[in-house]
Amino acid sequence: MTLNNFVFQNPTKIYFGPNQLENLPDEIKKFGLRVMLTYGGGSIKKTGLFDKVKTVLENAGMTVIEFGGIEPNPRHTTVNRGVALCKKENIDVLLAVGGGSTIDCTKVIAAARYYDGDAWDLVIHKAPIGQVMPLLTVLTLAATGSEMDEFAVISNMDTNEKLGLGDEKLRPKVSFLDPTNTYTVSAFQTAAGSADIIAHIFDVCYFSRNEKMYMLDMLMESVLKTVVRYAPIALQEPTNYEARANLMWASTWALNGFLSGGRGQATTCHAIEHELSAFYDITHGLGLAIIMPRWMEYVLDEKSAPDFKKFGVNVFGLPSNVSDMDGALAAISRFKKFLYEELHLQSSLSELKIDDTHFAAMARKACRDDVIHGYRDLAPADVENILRKCL
Ligand code: NZQ
Ligand code: ZN
Repeated sequence: MTLNNFVFQNPTKIYFGPNQLENLPDEIKKFGLRVMLTYGGGSIKKTGLFDKVKTVLENAGMTVIEFGGIEPNPRHTTVNRGVALCKKENIDVLLAVGGGSTIDCTKVIAAARYYDGDAWDLVIHKAPIGQVMPLLTVLTLAATGSEMDEFAVISNMDTNEKLGLGDEKLRPKVSFLDPTNTYTVSAFQTAAGSADIIAHIFDVCYFSRNEKMYMLDMLMESVLKTVVRYAPIALQEPTNYEARANLMWASTWALNGFLSGGRGQATTCHAIEHELSAFYDITHGLGLAIIMPRWMEYVLDEKSAPDFKKFGVNVFGLPSNVSDMDGALAAISRFKKFLYEELHLQSSLSELKIDDTHFAAMARKACRDDVIHGYRDLAPADVENILRKCL
């Protein structure tokens, strides 16, 4: 079998490291002088980043309009409010300062600015994405990769739906990645973000039944090893620059399109997690941390065992002189220890007070009334079984 052909182009410009904000005005001026600065629940006001960014822009003669209050798991209603403000204030360019939720919400504001209707229509592909406003970001949390990818994930709590959309035009023009801006991220969000980075490698697509490329496999394992090495350090020492820098760059490269090559995306664990967040509004990375090892256990068989063993050997340094099945079981067990004991993430849905009430509906939705196509195709009954293993 030959490798799949693929196209790779990622136009997002990155400024990495501290003290780069002086370049922000010149980058923004390329698109206009009226800026809407979007942010979340207020962490950037507490850390002083909001004032820093606003001052830099205003000193360069720009008008800054604030749009705050973007929630984790951003809502379509918030997107609509952002669009209304954008139109009212005749905004030229958007600047998202925050984590994945702020960036995702801003991406869809950028697209819905030119659509006369509910932004949700774009998310569900009822209307196509046309023109998109220019968007820049200042990242504050290492997790989603939204700072350099073409995706946005939006929730509709009226219908219990959390859906991703992807379009090349949604990629940020420029992203500022200063690891010191993540020093204040809580231990919990640092751990959840780290689990999310791992899940991006899993789903996009370390575990793949398509033809693999050795080089990309090696690079994916490097990203996984980076997270395994540095996430515990960041938890112990939140201001450790080396740890924060490694996690930040790992998050960006896990999902910017480079590592997937022609392998495509399986997004199995993500499809299941998005249902948990849609029904229970839980933190994305936490849901993934609970699901990933249970998914591995569920699809473990003679065919998958060598892949899981390889993960244990190459990422966690487990012994290779054991059978494939023993190696796979050891890998899953070591992975659980990492997530639940070293990152201190909760290990079950029961701990989050989630029971099986909605499992059937969640499984059906995760499969989009079909199956989840991935490393192993999963029908709704499979997804329900995996969710039960998470209880
Ligand atoms: O809202 P604020 O006050 O800023 O606080 C946030 C929020 O409470 C806080 N935080 C962020 N930076 C901080 C900070 N607190 C202190 N100091 C800082 N420097 O952390 C909390 C979580 O923030 P959020 O943006 O929700 O986290 P994350 O970056 O993990 O984003 C999660 C969202 O992204 C989606 C997820 O589904 C979820 O909705 N995803 C987006 C993807 C994409 N665009 O490609 C792919 C992912 O798989 C994922 O689905
Ligand atoms: Zn994710």
